[in-house]
Amino acid sequence: MKYLIGSILISLLLFANNFNNNQFQSSDFQNWQKQYGYYNTEFERQYREMIYNQNKKLIQEHNSKQNITYRMQENQFMTLTHEEFVGIYLQETEVSIPEITILNQDFYQPLQAVDWRNYTTIYNQGSCAAGWAFSVGSSIEAWFYIRGGGQNISVSVQQLIDCEKNSSGCSGGINTQAMLYALQDGLYNSQNYPYVGTQLACKATKSGTYFINNYTFVGGSTQSLQSSLQNYPASVGLDATYWQFYSSGLFSNCSENVVNHYALAIGFDSNNNWVVQNSFGSAWGENGIIKLPPNNTCGILNQAYQIY
Ligand SMILES: *[C@@H]1O[C@H](CO)[C@@H](O)[C@H](O)[C@H]1NC(C)=O
Ligand SMILES: *[C@@H]1O[C@H](CO)[C@@H](O)[C@H](O)[C@H]1NC(C)=O
Ligand SMILES: *[C@@H]1O[C@H](CO)[C@@H](O)[C@H](O)[C@H]1NC(C)=O
Ligand SMILES: *[C@@H]1O[C@H](CO)[C@@H](O)[C@H](O)[C@H]1NC(C)=O
Ligand SMILES: *[C@@H]1O[C@H](CO)[C@@H](O)[C@H](O)[C@H]1NC(C)=O
Ligand SMILES: *[C@@H]1O[C@H](CO)[C@@H](O)[C@H](O)[C@H]1NC(C)=O
Ligand SMILES: *[C@@H]1O[C@H](CO)[C@@H](O)[C@H](O)[C@H]1NC(C)=O
Repeated sequence: MKYLIGSILISLLLFANNFNNNQFQSSDFQNWQKQYGYYNTEFERQYREMIYNQNKKLIQEHNSKQNITYRMQENQFMTLTHEEFVGIYLQETEVSIPEITILNQDFYQPLQAVDWRNYTTIYNQGSCAAGWAFSVGSSIEAWFYIRGGGQNISVSVQQLIDCEKNSSGCSGGINTQAMLYALQDGLYNSQNYPYVGTQLACKATKSGTYFINNYTFVGGSTQSLQSSLQNYPASVGLDATYWQFYSSGLFSNCSENVVNHYALAIGFDSNNNWVVQNSFGSAWGENGIIKLPPNNTCGILNQAYQIY
């Protein structure tokens, strides 16, 4: 009996030793935790390290392929499984998909490329599926800056999350509902109603400061969105199911018939690739931006709206 316990102890010690070795070797995960935060329990830490390593492998395998159009990179989502990423950040919305007209380039005058990235601010929505609110908040800010004579305002996205009752706060929402709210109630300045990234009781007791006149559908065709983007950015609904580790390049691993996230279309390049600003911070994508190939990639033409 004594002997048996002794050998169990020894193997436990060996295991602990191995474990320490692994811990030493996995300095990448240590560095990741240093940047994004440590896990509280040993159990959680081990589980998250395993997911981290799986994701690292996925990224390496993707980037080592010869025929890829976009690259992946490590970011804040490294310790989330694909299912967790979809569950936390995305919410499929039941929106009617309009008729999409894709004309051959031969049949319309190509428009001048445009890119509003220097007129917008990149935000990070944190662990809250509020892409819809950031998309609309950013489109209002862009309007004031570009059309409002260089006014650099910062509207309350938190107010939309807490107060816009036709959406579901951090569990998703719809851009046109947020626009309707800004039309009817007006938005506070973000300094007066700051972002906390979780849904709380509505604290708006009076009308906000920033109203919009109305909003209009600008999707349905490449020409429609391109010509609208000549003026200022647009709020767009998209399929972001596989956006977790997007880093750079042209992304098209998505469906044209799903809307589970909203972002801000800020332009298109001379090859008609869409330039879209996301709200996953500037460490995600190309400085917070993703590029999508022409036409209705990821459903960009389905729910494109501009405020005015
Ligand atoms: C890339 O190449 C691999 C094989 O090397 C193939 O299985 C895959 O379908 C290709 N992907 C694309 C998008 O062409
Ligand atoms: C976009 O649509 C046009 C017209 O149908 C087509 O010629 C072109 O190949 C499409 N581009 C992509 C990237 O799907
Ligand atoms: C943004 O501003 C920088 C610095 O002035 C400039 O180099 C860059 O070309 C601008 N980008 C766009 C898309 O206008
Ligand atoms: C607006 O102001 C903020 C905060 O001062 C600044 O970080 C941002 O760059 C400004 N935006 C533009 C488009 O100039
Ligand atoms: C919510 O939706 C209803 C029905 O579409 C609409 O009448 C109402 O104005 C909306 N309220 C807000 C705050 O968007
Ligand atoms: C906003 O536009 C819609 C569609 O054009 C129109 O029916 C509605 O009356 C407008 N609302 C306001 C407040 O102007
Ligand atoms: C889309 O992304 C998923 C997850 O990275 C991957 O498994 C799948 O092969 C990709 N599909 C294409 C067509 O690239």
